[in-house]
Amino acid sequence: MRKPLYAANWKMNKTGAETRMFFEKFLPKVKSRTDADILIAPPFTSIIDAIDADESERMIIAAQNMHFEADGAFTGEISAAMLNELGCTAVILGHSERRHVFGEDDDMINRKNVAAIAAGLIPVFCVGEKIEQRELGKTQEVLETQITDGLKDIPEGNLAQLVIAYEPVWAIGTGHTATPDQAQEAHLYIRSLVGTLYSNELSNSARILYGGSAKPSNISELMAQPDVDGVLVGGASLDPDSFAAIVNHD
Ligand code: PGA
Repeated sequence: MRKPLYAANWKMNKTGAETRMFFEKFLPKVKSRTDADILIAPPFTSIIDAIDADESERMIIAAQNMHFEADGAFTGEISAAMLNELGCTAVILGHSERRHVFGEDDDMINRKNVAAIAAGLIPVFCVGEKIEQRELGKTQEVLETQITDGLKDIPEGNLAQLVIAYEPVWAIGTGHTATPDQAQEAHLYIRSLVGTLYSNELSNSARILYGGSAKPSNISELMAQPDVDGVLVGGASLDPDSFAAIVNHD
């Protein structure tokens, strides 16, 4: 049985003080939800505030990105070791905004997956098609390339904690959530691809999150799908009431 994972991607939102305020309101609201993992990815500068505020270490605190090199002349970048030292245990990699706004490609994301895993960080590896690719019937082809290239040369033994986030680009921040059927179809495809690339065992244990306008009003129908193991939430994770409603859904 896969443990549900509710993940918040705050993007470029919340200062350290705002992060502390969020935790103060949010933590009591999710206290009784002990059978699920909750991940929060604040901006780099607020990670330390999140870790301090989460005194009981209930949450998985994640970064939203990192560089694949250990150190060097990479102005503005952050390494896996720097995240480790802060107490981060996971990192979002290959988010569509990194791919399409900042030009990250599958090779770069592969190197990031490798470096994160080597540092003991759980990679939340994001994939997803653009609307024109979906309309051309190329969704599975796009997912196949992103996943095959993104996991290239990573042995199965290193993927015990694998989390893949399926985030159709057309659904992110647009209010146009994928229908539960569309999400399930893509998740099932991703799961079977992991089975083909690796094994049935990994295919059964890998958690696959849905992302793209997930919110309190659609969380239950998304989570009712057999291959949806959780969600990666942007906009609706910024408000403690709204993210708690997602975590505590029926
Ligand atoms: P959204 O963002 O929930 O605001 O659509 C999701 C994401 O980008 O991870």
